[in-house]
Amino acid sequence: MQEIIRQLDEKRARARAGGGDKRIAGQHAKGKLSARERIELLLDPDSFEEWDMFVEHRCTDFGMGEQTIPGDGVVTGYGTINGRLVFVFSQDFTVFGGSLSEAHAEKICKIMDHAIKVGAPVIGLNDSGGARIQEGVASLAGYAEVFQRNVMASGVVPQISCIMGPCAGGAVYSPAMTDFIFMVKDSSYMFVTGPEVVKTVTHESVTAEELGGAVTHSSKSGVADLAFENDVEALLQLRRFVDFLPSSNREKPPVRPTSDSADRMEMSLDTLIPDNPNKPYDMKELILKVVDEGDFFEIAPSFAANIITGFARMEGSTVGIVANQPMVLAGCLDIDSSRKAARFVRFCDAFNIPIITFVDVPGFLPGTAQEYGGIIKHGAKLLFAYAECTVPKVTVITRKAYGGAYDVMSSKHLRGDVNFAWPTAEIAVMGPKGAVEIIFRQDIGNAEKIAARTEEYRQKFANPFVAGHRGFIDDVIMPHATRKRICRSLVMLRDKELENPWRKHGNIPL
Ligand code: HXC
Repeated sequence: MQEIIRQLDEKRARARAGGGDKRIAGQHAKGKLSARERIELLLDPDSFEEWDMFVEHRCTDFGMGEQTIPGDGVVTGYGTINGRLVFVFSQDFTVFGGSLSEAHAEKICKIMDHAIKVGAPVIGLNDSGGARIQEGVASLAGYAEVFQRNVMASGVVPQISCIMGPCAGGAVYSPAMTDFIFMVKDSSYMFVTGPEVVKTVTHESVTAEELGGAVTHSSKSGVADLAFENDVEALLQLRRFVDFLPSSNREKPPVRPTSDSADRMEMSLDTLIPDNPNKPYDMKELILKVVDEGDFFEIAPSFAANIITGFARMEGSTVGIVANQPMVLAGCLDIDSSRKAARFVRFCDAFNIPIITFVDVPGFLPGTAQEYGGIIKHGAKLLFAYAECTVPKVTVITRKAYGGAYDVMSSKHLRGDVNFAWPTAEIAVMGPKGAVEIIFRQDIGNAEKIAARTEEYRQKFANPFVAGHRGFIDDVIMPHATRKRICRSLVMLRDKELENPWRKHGNIPL
């Protein structure tokens, strides 16, 4: 018996050693943690239950028969984050470059299948040279098995990818189908084809970091939601992030006790909106002052910053926040902001997270770049997402809500449950100046007349009461009471029931 136990210990030690001390030191030298160190940081102490540490690949080609390392380049299992169950896989770059073999894929699939069955998030820590080259199509098949599960898990359990090393070629498509992608600066990259292929095909010279690094994807392409300085920061923020999410679509969002009173008044909000309607103000200030303890986890802050998306809590329960940001492009909706917010709204809807929308939008961004880029279809994504969404929706119009953008931003007509306006709201087809120049075109040469007409229009339409008369706005509220009014609305909506008609699936404009 003693001998058997000793042998088990030995086998475990061999699996834990991964690619060996030298390769682990190499990983550290690149500023990266090892696969196991990452899991240790991510999960609660002593909560990790590892599976499949004795799994080995079955390849015999190219001398692989003699090279087996138990675990085969990925550490898998489950554990807890602040006491809540999560499944995790962590690719081990020290073992065959973390490359994905058939057996490696089977390990990932096993935890994904369990996560779907029990209803818990899947967190992938990606650090891999891609398909195990020696295995050929068996490896490609492994990827496809993972892809299929990503799709089946979508909208059932949250899926989060943290890219902490290479992720190239078709391998990018598994993270791409997960709900959120985090990346680490300077040590991770994602691209479909690397710098050498780019050079050959398009003659562009570009580094891996420029082509697919964390900054590129979190600010230019929008592929990644957040970029972190190092592994430690990424993993600690991942822990904080998971706290906001329900474990599955069968659950309500988690509740965290708070001492922040639902009745808290925030008098400074009464002076947030500048007198000049063309002057910007920081919408983030409003968000931070309204949500519990000013705790806001922003998603994609560096991409399409003209719209703000992120998670916060109201009276302890998670809410999704969508808000136009007047500081960037005057808060206009454009292609990127529509895509960003649409995906966020759909995530919230899939996972029972109420949505609070703060509106200050002068319209859609004009221009050929937008039209040629398909703003019609992209803007429709956000419209579609809000319209099909059945979770509680509370909307607060702080200032401008013009034109189609008024309709899009969780208006009453798209089944907004509670729609508030601040007294500073201007709900109209367009701003006074633009409106007068169209309907009183004949007076354009006469500055006095135009000024009088503009003032007349402003008085008549640049306020929340025209919409209020029709019941499109449920109440015009004092800015300082915003938190209280939203909290009450969310309590009232707690047991909201709304179902869309049966269908196989809608056809969102993609
Ligand atoms: C098998 C691999 C591997 C792979 C790396 N290794 N990638 N083994 N299959 N895909 C091994 C290396 O042989 C090496 O083994 C160890 O991992 C570390 O690799 P290095 O090259 O020394 O590391 P580094 O210099 O940091 O470079 C990392 C890298 C490079 C940029 C990822 O290894 C690389 O270019 N790998 C190949 C990438 C690739 O072409 N993959 C297939 C892409 S196509 P030793 O024993 O020396 O330590 C793809 C399709 C997916 O993935 C399709 C899905 C549908």
